[in-house]
Amino acid sequence: MKIKACIFDLDGVIVDTAKYHYLAWKRLADDLGINFTEKDNERLKGVSRMASLEIILEIGNMVPDEAEKVELTSLKNSWYVNYINKMTPEEILPGSLKFIMELKKANISVAIGSASRNTTLILERVKIKNLFDAVADGNNVHKAKPDPEVFLTAAGMLGIAPENCVVFEDAEAGVKAALNAGMRCVGIGSAEILSKAHLVIRGLYEMNIEKLRAFEKKFGYE
Ligand code: BG6
Ligand code: MG
Repeated sequence: MKIKACIFDLDGVIVDTAKYHYLAWKRLADDLGINFTEKDNERLKGVSRMASLEIILEIGNMVPDEAEKVELTSLKNSWYVNYINKMTPEEILPGSLKFIMELKKANISVAIGSASRNTTLILERVKIKNLFDAVADGNNVHKAKPDPEVFLTAAGMLGIAPENCVVFEDAEAGVKAALNAGMRCVGIGSAEILSKAHLVIRGLYEMNIEKLRAFEKKFGYE
């Protein structure tokens, strides 16, 4: 079995958008009189837009009706989009481009598997949209991680079997989604939080094609 595709989560793996999500959620929480901290923001990683709002409302002990919730998420998103509209290629996380170019040279397909409905906008702003062979995101996938749908959709778009795919993920729910898809997973971040991943690194700057080949050998590929 060979690695034929690498599927990347976007937020926290290729770009650091968590800070913009935080600023936009913080503004909403302040407006609602909810005390929302950077530590609370950690709970929102990899979580869908509506589920994120629900976590914040739970912190503030608030239970608005569905219509109000939809309004609050679109308000937050409009502020978030103002931030990401100003993103530049300098915001691509270190090592990401170099590794992706190495994969392409080695004929390994590259795809995005993200919950974000703003994926296309972000990829366009940081000017890497054309690098990917497939993009599965919150617009063509509906079941949230840890459901494997987003990664299976990306693999399906590439026409590559799940066992030939490696996922790069920074969220615990994302690591679980990769394993639920029958894929190998490299966690990006804390080894403690991402303990279920086959390997954990601090960032894509720690990855290269040789390390991927070593990973291939170690984790059940021939
Ligand atoms: C994930 C982020 O990638 O996308 C979450 O980690 C975010 O924090 C989710 O809530 C949905 O993003 P968006 O852009 O559709 O609101
Ligand atoms: Mg992420």
